[in-house]
Amino acid sequence: MTQQPRKVCFMTGGSGRLASQVACGLAQEGYDIFFTWHQSKARAEATLDELRHHAFGSAMTQCDIASVADIRRAFTEFREHFGRLDLLITAASNFFGTSLGEISEKEWDQLTDTNLKGTFFTMQEGMNLMKEQPFVSRIITITDISANLTWTGFAPYTASKAGVQHLTRIFAKACAPTILVNSIAPGTFTMNPDWNNEQDLEEELRHKIPLKRLGEPAELLSAIRFLAENSYMTGQVINIDGGRLLY
Ligand SMILES: NC(=O)c1ccc[n+]([C@@H]2O[C@H](COP(=O)([O-])OP(=O)(O)OC[C@H]3O[C@@H](n4cnc5c(N)ncnc54)[C@H](OP(=O)(O)O)[C@@H]3O)[C@@H](O)[C@H]2O)c1
Repeated sequence: MTQQPRKVCFMTGGSGRLASQVACGLAQEGYDIFFTWHQSKARAEATLDELRHHAFGSAMTQCDIASVADIRRAFTEFREHFGRLDLLITAASNFFGTSLGEISEKEWDQLTDTNLKGTFFTMQEGMNLMKEQPFVSRIITITDISANLTWTGFAPYTASKAGVQHLTRIFAKACAPTILVNSIAPGTFTMNPDWNNEQDLEEELRHKIPLKRLGEPAELLSAIRFLAENSYMTGQVINIDGGRLLY
């Protein structure tokens, strides 16, 4: 009997607070993971150690997603390690507040170069690789429910995420029928440890979430699992937010 090859997932930002837990969940479900990190080497190494408990073939590379040359180098490295790509997840993202009246060009570029431009060129590389494969593969972009909200203190971040949701639909149309492209837009799953009023903010957020709590990584993983298995859904955005968008 011939053995089924192991599935492979390429994930940008795979060492992120939420993304690393999704990566570990996928590794436990039989995926080998190739992920990118940017500045947090120790966190990336810890993530790789954890992944290798479940998926020994996992690997990582440092990559600045804001640089197209770096993205292309990461994909070349990926091709050298792995013979297939089943699932591409774009999770690398920059997140900080910006004052609408005072935002600088540098801040704008830092946010949009990583979140929008970088995601586009990651999807382009993923699409080109997947098109060579004789089987159905999938791209999942991780966006944010704020793409549908008007957070005046986060304009470049939210505009980038809205842009990625639009790119998701464009790639879905262009890549059909062999590559399915969807987006998952999380509500709040983790609080930012850099915020000094974290507890008050969390309390305030809970009031705006009908399910009255933050999301759990396992709940995001179950949405990813659904998209990774479903074969008749493309160009969609799944908001997973405890009902926050109803508020
Ligand atoms: N956590 C939430 O509650 C939440 C809510 C809504 C949406 N999301 C979305 O879910 C995804 C995962 O979230 P998370 O909490 O895991 O994010 P996170 O903890 O903020 O981590 C962000 C990741 O992106 C990487 N990154 C940042 N700038 C980069 C750059 N220029 N080049 C390459 N990588 C870069 C970071 O790498 P280094 O640390 O190595 O620099 C890190 O791995 C993100 O797309 C986020 O926008 C999360």
